Amino acid sequence: MRWRWRKSGEASPYNRSMQTLTLIRPDDAHLHLRDGAALAAVAPHTARQFARAIVMPNLKPPVTTTAQAAAYRERILAAMPAGPAALTFAPHMTLYLTDSTPVAEIDRARDSGIVRAVKYYPAGATTHSDAGVTAVENCFAVLARMEEIGLPLLVHGEVTDAEVDIFDRERVFIERVLTPLLRRFPRLRLVLEHITTREGVQFVESTGSNVAGTLTAHHLLMNRNALFAGGVRPHNYCLPVLKRETHRQALVHAAVSGNPKFFLGTDSAPHARQAKEAACGCAGCYTALHALELYAEAFEDAGALDKLEAFASFYGADFYGLPRNTSTVTLERADWRVPDSLPFGDDTLTPLRAGEVLRWKLR
Ligand code: NCD
Ligand code: ZN
Repeated sequence: MRWRWRKSGEASPYNRSMQTLTLIRPDDAHLHLRDGAALAAVAPHTARQFARAIVMPNLKPPVTTTAQAAAYRERILAAMPAGPAALTFAPHMTLYLTDSTPVAEIDRARDSGIVRAVKYYPAGATTHSDAGVTAVENCFAVLARMEEIGLPLLVHGEVTDAEVDIFDRERVFIERVLTPLLRRFPRLRLVLEHITTREGVQFVESTGSNVAGTLTAHHLLMNRNALFAGGVRPHNYCLPVLKRETHRQALVHAAVSGNPKFFLGTDSAPHARQAKEAACGCAGCYTALHALELYAEAFEDAGALDKLEAFASFYGADFYGLPRNTSTVTLERADWRVPDSLPFGDDTLTPLRAGEVLRWKLR
């Protein structure tokens, strides 16, 4: 990572006179790209920011087979605009785990060379998760094979039990599902996605190197007050839902700790504006447009800009056994206003922090 200063002789890399920040091109370890016109609208944003992304399979219908993942990958590549970033951007695919995923599908995924992981959505936990897993026991044979061959399981870690308070669903999932699961499959490679709680951080910290966690920019920047700042704020609503400030601080601490078990995953999840500004609004924050700028703000606020590159560009690649990228991106200190609205097929999309001013800008 290279630093540039307006004035020479400044001692600390944290001081605010730093004007540009060049880092190895990062990867997004958790991304929703959707399909069709929505895919065409959002894919160029990610390609501008990232070299690679682990692409979530929660389409309708979900991507449950390697053949479907291969076809989806082709559609993603076809949606890339002409230009240098698009030429180098690589989507890495995942399969959507169901109660009836056969072991043979895991073998096909491994042999494909394009499927990097399998995504576990508890049925009903989030957007397009109704085909997800109803009881993890149904997947034990598949998980045994994944443990054997080292194919990672990516976990949406929330119980769906309506009796559990929504703010406790991650903690309870760790207690009820993840801890027993790792006891049964101790070598299973597992990523707790979009961690939102102190308990999630502790779970990742206390397990072996086969377990990692992703952190979103929005969970690093906001606590649950942001859902109700002067009124209901649907564009800050995602799942797992934002938690209280003590949890946000634990996430920031993990992100800047230099622990390679924590890495960048935006969980950028676009929904049409009308689908979010509705009586029953969809979950998902759109951050692909300005992900690095948002992470830079969170790391700078924590006095840890020097930790951003490894978190964004090294640890995810290392976990997935991918070579680290070699090209770079540069952020410059420049105020710019996030657009109020973006085109999204026949609809529009509202990015996180729409209309607000950010202090870093990707060149
Ligand atoms: C995601 C989506 O919209 O696909 N929504 C979200 O709030 N994060 C699904 C998910 O990752 O939970
Ligand atoms: Zn997600």
